[in-house]
Amino acid sequence: MCGIIGYTGTKQAVPVLISGLSALEYRGYDSAGISVYEEGIITIKTEGRLKNLTNRIKAGRKIKGHTGIGHTRWATHGEPSERNAHPHLSSRLSLVHNGIIENYQELEQMLSSEGYRFRSETDTEAAAHLIDYFYKQSKDPVAALHAAARAIRGSFAFAVMFKGDRENLYAVRSGSPLICADTPNGSYLASDIPAILPFAKEYYQLPENVVAVLSPKGINFFTADGAEIIPEKSQITWSVEAAKKCGYNHFMLKEINEQAEALRNTVLPRLRDGVPYFDCDILDRNIEEIGEIKIIGCGTAMHAGLVGKNVIERFARIPVSVEIASEFRYGNPILRKDTLVILISQSGETADTIAALELAKSAGAKTLAIVNVLGSTISRLADYVIYTWAGPEISVASTKAYTVQCAVLYQIAFKLALVRHQISEGQCRDLCERQANSLPAAIDAALKMSGRIKRLSEKIAEYENLFFIGRGIDAEICKEGSLKLKEISYIHSESYPAGELKHGTISLIDANVPVIAVITVSQVLDKTISNVREVKSRGATVFSVCTKAAAEAVEPMSDYTLVLPETDEIFAPVVAIIALQILAYYTAVARNCDVDKPRNLAKSVTVE
Ligand code: G6P
Repeated sequence: MCGIIGYTGTKQAVPVLISGLSALEYRGYDSAGISVYEEGIITIKTEGRLKNLTNRIKAGRKIKGHTGIGHTRWATHGEPSERNAHPHLSSRLSLVHNGIIENYQELEQMLSSEGYRFRSETDTEAAAHLIDYFYKQSKDPVAALHAAARAIRGSFAFAVMFKGDRENLYAVRSGSPLICADTPNGSYLASDIPAILPFAKEYYQLPENVVAVLSPKGINFFTADGAEIIPEKSQITWSVEAAKKCGYNHFMLKEINEQAEALRNTVLPRLRDGVPYFDCDILDRNIEEIGEIKIIGCGTAMHAGLVGKNVIERFARIPVSVEIASEFRYGNPILRKDTLVILISQSGETADTIAALELAKSAGAKTLAIVNVLGSTISRLADYVIYTWAGPEISVASTKAYTVQCAVLYQIAFKLALVRHQISEGQCRDLCERQANSLPAAIDAALKMSGRIKRLSEKIAEYENLFFIGRGIDAEICKEGSLKLKEISYIHSESYPAGELKHGTISLIDANVPVIAVITVSQVLDKTISNVREVKSRGATVFSVCTKAAAEAVEPMSDYTLVLPETDEIFAPVVAIIALQILAYYTAVARNCDVDKPRNLAKSVTVE
């Protein structure tokens, strides 16, 4: 949510800032701006996409300067406009902010009485003036940032440059992520790794309430009591290419195509003697301590949790509940000593998931994070962490992250089932072998069906409302398929367990409301077919996405049938979701939607 980049060093700042912002645009894209230290601080801001800012910069005279900050915004307070875009200025500084300042009205009142004038409708401007206010008194940027951090309630990551201080940048954060990297060419700060990928190989996660002072020669870190510390460094494992489109029209399409590899990368290193080994105490040594599981996440990550519940309960016979993080954190969760709370998050920075994790920890539950970003907040706070190896996911609509989250949950299910004697070692090995080898092959085969899926998408693109139906694990896959379609094509869709439709919602079905039926579970095949018949007889156009085994039965009542590549039944839903992702992608393309940057959304939601 909002992208931040900062640089000070030997290079020209503008190209570094623009490169960083274009790598971060997925974090927010309603306005953008930069401040660069030339003779004084020059600030340029524009409404809309980053290209508006780059065009404005190109059209003006060349800005020369080696120190600067930049921001791409996802509006929380104040409409997207040039006035509300960051950086925000005060008398002695320029500031960019990620997060939400909850007590900004209080601060505004206090600062207005001190003579500060407010020009925007943002919460951020209060922070700019507040830091200025403290700086005016102490003349010490580090002390001013600490004082502001103490006075602000909410979440924030700030990058600040002060007038008269040509070479240094200052940063502090609480709740929102910020990373820093020192290199021979200078120092960088950013809200997210892709911004610094071309420039650095390792980085520091800025600890909470520690002020970082970035100079061309390096970075110093100061705690609130004045002590200097050196935070731990993390290696960047992603390649520069991984964050580029590499010839694809959209990141989403590239990421859909990377799924077989991401799955192998995630699953294979976790096999020892053919069975899952996580290098994590709770799953390898103390697994018997787990009596129940709660899986928590937001959006697509939560949907992966639903798949996890299905496979863990089926194989390991352990009760699992799945909760939306924003509900869990304000609910009244019952957590037992033997509850394992699994937090799922691609970014590892989602504010609601972090809060849920903190709540679970404070209640004494064991916490395990499944996270894609190394060193992210959730990975550091949880008792145990399993990384997914999807590489950077840039498209706002998540695809490969979901698949690998599901893959890890399958592995956890197999391991729990083995330890609880629900399956033999031979069966476990066999399942793992098929997950690591046959499943990626089936995913690749599904990708090869893109041409056919594209043709179906062109038909779907004509509708404004539709239903997804399925039973069992297919119902969970439908939820994710429906979310993908809604997010990027803006077609309203609902996902329903097939048997539930007749309890009310079937009243919405007519010739203008098609139904996408996902059918991979053989146990309830006949039941789902009956449900398809029900919607067909109410005039719906039916698109079936099914296994070969289901095809013959469903074809007579299906207008379009997409037969999935063959794979083991337990993995068929994973193959089905690949088809639904491709379907959503081409539907959005057919409707001329901005696939990678859907309206109103942002990749990583670091505010409540
Ligand atoms: C946002 C994104 C979703 C994502 C969710 C959780 O809403 O738009 O695609 O699933 O956040 O993100 P996380 O990084 O925690 O997986």
